[in-house]
Amino acid sequence: MIPEELSAEIEDGLARLGSELHAEGIDLDLAERHLFRAPGRVNLIGDHTDYNGGLVLPAAIDLAVYLACVPSEGVYLVSLSESGTLAITSDGDSALDGRPIPPWGAYPRGVLAELAREGRPPAGFSGVVASSIPVGRGLSSSAALEVAVATAALALAGFELDAWRTAEACRRAEERYAGVECGIMDQAVSVMGKAGFACLIDTARHTFEHIPVPRSIDIVVIDSGIRRELAGGEYNRRRRECSAALDALRSSKEFAGLEHLCDLRPDDIGRFVELLPVELARRVRHVVTENARVERVCRILREVAASDPHDPPSRLLRELGAVLEESHRSVVADFGAGHPTTDRIVELAAAESGYIGARQTGAGWGGAVVVFCTAGAGGRLGQSILDALPGEEQAIPAERPSAATPSYHVCVVSDGASEI
Ligand code: GLA
Repeated sequence: MIPEELSAEIEDGLARLGSELHAEGIDLDLAERHLFRAPGRVNLIGDHTDYNGGLVLPAAIDLAVYLACVPSEGVYLVSLSESGTLAITSDGDSALDGRPIPPWGAYPRGVLAELAREGRPPAGFSGVVASSIPVGRGLSSSAALEVAVATAALALAGFELDAWRTAEACRRAEERYAGVECGIMDQAVSVMGKAGFACLIDTARHTFEHIPVPRSIDIVVIDSGIRRELAGGEYNRRRRECSAALDALRSSKEFAGLEHLCDLRPDDIGRFVELLPVELARRVRHVVTENARVERVCRILREVAASDPHDPPSRLLRELGAVLEESHRSVVADFGAGHPTTDRIVELAAAESGYIGARQTGAGWGGAVVVFCTAGAGGRLGQSILDALPGEEQAIPAERPSAATPSYHVCVVSDGASEI
């Protein structure tokens, strides 16, 4: 379950932490070890709907954050990929021994503080965080870190919290301690994921349902290498635009009782565009049509999953592809969250054999594209897209000041967080 190379590094990390703390007079009983795992995610469809009371359809994947730890007084954590030891009280309230909190430590600290608000008794633990999720690649590495810490903190305190409240505590941690006003999607799917199934999450009703990901389909994530800064950037601006649009609609007679933008239906578009400035109307149109597309994709996936895995009806696959492409156009044209490189990836994917459909996924402004293709075609398709990209990268160096190398991952749809 845990990648072999990580497992050896975790052992070394624990031994190092043990001796570092021993030198300070703190002894860890390394034999009492627990190992927790929380997955990253890919969003199949439903972007920018989760903070508008809508539906999302993410799936937990095989890349994950692992936390190996033992019970202790207070919390001491190190990360295999980031520097600095996080040393804090087990309610996340304050630093221990006046030590500075390393930047990555804001996430675990926030989670502990939010769980304390939920009534978790202060039980400490110390250990090593390791991740197979590349950071900043649109696979939700920060949500997975939060959920790994929450899962460990709850289990070691013997405190039960339902899935929704756990995810919500992690989301608040990200908002309050890392400054990203994100929705609930990433944390929720990391908690609630199920192998072989995507999670249909209703963010207004706080309910979720598992939707089969057909065996006849490969899900490939292509990272464009374009980094996007969520905190303080376009993402938070879009959230404000959506809430300004909601306020404007509520102040009209027609939509006075509107609770969320996603309570609107595509049939309402003709009426709400009249009431909003052009740009806000386009944002709302994306949100409303995207919400309806989530329902369509769920219906199609169920039908495909119920069909012969070796011969899924091509009519359904064509319909699925059309909805995914429509979603891509909508997030680019109406929501203004696109990027030329992700557009290009979608275009390149469409020329590959086995291609079903593709769309930019996650927050946007670069980041990742999710491609649906025939089972078994994912690796070849991913590689072929990467091979076609580098020339274009060189053509637009100014747009890629902090770009990483593009990469792809064929996803194995996995279980949500647990002790392993
Ligand atoms: C980021 C946020 C999510 C969601 C997506 C866009 O991943 O963390 O909550 O809003 O963007 O769908």
